[in-house]
Amino acid sequence: MHLKILVTAGDGIGPEVTNEAVAVLNEIAQAGGHTFEFDHRRIGGVAIVQDGTPLPADTLAAALDSDAVLLGAVGGNEFNSLAPDKRPEAGLLQIRSALGGFANLRPAFAFKELAVNSPLRPEIIDGADILFVRELLGGLYFGKPREWDKTTGRAFNTMVYTRDEVARVARIAFDLARGRRKKLTSVDKANVLEVSQLWRATVIEVAAEFPDVALDHQYVDAMAMHLMNRPKDFDVVLTENLFGDILSDESGVITGSLGMLPSATIGGKVNLYEPVHGSAPDIAGKGLANPLGAIMTAALILRHSGGLEAEAAAIEAAVRKVLEQGFRTPDLLRGNKEGLTVLSTTEMGAKVRETVKVQLLAPSR
Ligand code: IPM
Ligand code: MG
Repeated sequence: MHLKILVTAGDGIGPEVTNEAVAVLNEIAQAGGHTFEFDHRRIGGVAIVQDGTPLPADTLAAALDSDAVLLGAVGGNEFNSLAPDKRPEAGLLQIRSALGGFANLRPAFAFKELAVNSPLRPEIIDGADILFVRELLGGLYFGKPREWDKTTGRAFNTMVYTRDEVARVARIAFDLARGRRKKLTSVDKANVLEVSQLWRATVIEVAAEFPDVALDHQYVDAMAMHLMNRPKDFDVVLTENLFGDILSDESGVITGSLGMLPSATIGGKVNLYEPVHGSAPDIAGKGLANPLGAIMTAALILRHSGGLEAEAAAIEAAVRKVLEQGFRTPDLLRGNKEGLTVLSTTEMGAKVRETVKVQLLAPSR
């Protein structure tokens, strides 16, 4: 398998964690005779500083010319006063839109070993395994008109979806549910918003194509609570853009850390892969960042762009083993270090690579 992967490491901890993801991919390439070709370009704050724009033209061209894009994180406190279209995040939204992927898959898996990190009781989260499918190109993020009129002191955004935009992401979610526990929960606010009424009606229409998948609907406010009370009841969770942004961060409580969440965006010209966590400027450059979200994102590249399921599973199993063996980055400690070994970002990466090698030779779980 040959893959041309563009790495846009971005800001804060982005470069540190993507380095480890790339190193794991190199390990997989070497072991299996695959060739992964990496190109590196700027995006976000680092691009604003060096190129004067959050998404330089050469980054976009290289992205469109690749098989997959691996993004670290964007954003930094020094850009907080900029207008939305000038900020590092604008670079991310532009590249999402240009690559065209509309289905953002955010798996949230509760590793048993990390249950102690969650404020939720272990029996509530143990075994939770949710796949969020977040619509990524519509809703408030891209809806027009949008404006902050400083003279009148009035600002607005537009939450807009078409039937086709809902149907295409719903189909992907139903299809993924078929390969899992065959349950789909669609999230909306249909008791208040017309756009949610369209969402719900469209999801019900699409459901007719998937009679083997059980569908239910939840209002987003209730869903925020159900996720904390009974996360094990959910399999695939389908949401519009902003609701998915919010609920996927909330799922960091189920996994014990936001640093454990990978994502893959599919359905467009080029798939885009990014961990769910942000740039964490407070810990950047200190070797404290947890690379496991980025490493599991690398596994998603293998699964969704390379068709290398065994290799993707080997990475995921290696992450599990490393946790079972008591290795933790500092974000995965909650006070109690007993029986645990604290590793830096690069040490954790090395530990996963070592374990991946063993997994590839003798796969377990
Ligand atoms: C995410 C992030 C982004 C989003 C930001 C950085 C623009 O929070 O991927 O969840 O809101 O989509
Ligand atoms: Mg977010």
